[in-house]
Amino acid sequence: MTVDLTNVFQQIDGDYENLKELLREAVAIQSVSGDPSKRDETIRMVHWMKEKLEAIGTACELADLGTQELEGKTVKLPPVLLGTLGTDKNKKTLLVYGHLDVQPAAKSDGWDTEPFELVEKDGKLFGRGSSDDKGPVLCWLHAIRAAQKNNIELPVNVKFCFEGMEESGSVGLPELLEREKDRFLSGVDFVCISDSYWLGTKKPCLTYGLRGICSFFVEVTGIKQDLHSGVFGGVIHEPLQDLMWVMAQLTTVDNRIKIPGLYDQVAPLSAAEEKTYDDIEFDVAEFRDSVGAAHLPTEDKKTLLLRRWREPSLAFHGIEGAFYGPGEKTVIPSKVIGKFSIRIVPDMEPEEVNRRTVEYLNKVWAERGSPNIFKPRPGHSAKPWVVDVNDSNFLAGARAMKRVHGVEPDRIREGCSIPITLTFQELTGKSVLLLPLGAADDMAHSQNEKNNKWNYVEGVKTLLAYIMELGSA
Ligand code: BES
Ligand code: MN
Ligand code: MN
Repeated sequence: MTVDLTNVFQQIDGDYENLKELLREAVAIQSVSGDPSKRDETIRMVHWMKEKLEAIGTACELADLGTQELEGKTVKLPPVLLGTLGTDKNKKTLLVYGHLDVQPAAKSDGWDTEPFELVEKDGKLFGRGSSDDKGPVLCWLHAIRAAQKNNIELPVNVKFCFEGMEESGSVGLPELLEREKDRFLSGVDFVCISDSYWLGTKKPCLTYGLRGICSFFVEVTGIKQDLHSGVFGGVIHEPLQDLMWVMAQLTTVDNRIKIPGLYDQVAPLSAAEEKTYDDIEFDVAEFRDSVGAAHLPTEDKKTLLLRRWREPSLAFHGIEGAFYGPGEKTVIPSKVIGKFSIRIVPDMEPEEVNRRTVEYLNKVWAERGSPNIFKPRPGHSAKPWVVDVNDSNFLAGARAMKRVHGVEPDRIREGCSIPITLTFQELTGKSVLLLPLGAADDMAHSQNEKNNKWNYVEGVKTLLAYIMELGSA
């Protein structure tokens, strides 16, 4: 039986000021997991959320993860919030995952407003975490509150797993989940993660694939300290020159990877799979304009989506030890560490990618012929994830989207990574649905991150509709 949600949806619209107030409080907590000086804030964020979940009747526990070494300091890891709402043996159980930590942000990075103060402007809610992932996490809370206010019984038990380390590699979480396999994770029937985005700004979608990632460090050194470039320039093998040359051998101008054999591992594209790309709604010009680029390496819709979702890509992130401040500094840095990562797709294996990449780096280094010291090494890695789009969990998600937006959602993949997705799938043996709520132009990780007021409010309705649809899944 389908419960009519028309009135509840109206109430959710009318409750906007409260929804916004809660997001304002959450954004104000500077839970930057990568910054050890903000670790207390990250921990406070988990406690804040625990209180909110308890207020809707959730039994909560905080799983302690101990400490980690970060920038030479031992710091406490934020606990993982595990919540249980309902233990009815006759109902199925939904497990919801989300993250409470955010990427760093400072006004001086080029934000128009203070990143940790929620600001509403032109129907947009600006603030770090408004979209990634505090907004969607709060949508779960609001959705359940709305059901409770209207005495609507949830057709499933709900479990929550909210962590505070996602943006820093989910340190400790896979091990915790393994320990919880036969306790907290037992009896889970469906998993849902709302931590990805729509492909555009108008049409909803469901996400059935994520790329994995392999990170790399390339260290070059050879002189004992930074040197004056006037005194030593021309008579030194400069580590930074070597590094830039080596890094430049990794890709072509059109962003194709030059590491031999890398593309050979990519699963072949069947005609049937290729056909699924025909119907996906995607505006290449809107995408190009949203990043402010004049041209893209490809502007063909299908080729572009294939490159984002089912082909590897290599991105450069920075050089530790190189001068990057404003103004001039006539210096020769003594030790530099280049950082890049490769997003990987089925059937690429992280170990194989790491091996081929380090082998290639060593080969080009030999060609360089520099006497400096060269140390390439792999960092974190995660496998890609792709699933069936027609299981009962995905169909419930699709019905929910249709109820709220009136259209069948596109089935899309993502170029990004949420490594814990595969862990949930493997440990529960159940379907994991990625249910995106935010728009493609939300600018997660970047300046002026925002969540549209409309997406936020419709997101609450979508998650409520999804929970209700699971009753007949
Ligand atoms: N929410 C993102 C992942 C994401 C972004 C999925 C856009 C789909 C669309 C998540 O918070 C994130 O940033 N993941 C990192 C993981 C990495 C540090 C291992 C990523 O993809 O860079
Ligand atoms: Mn996220
Ligand atoms: Mn993120």
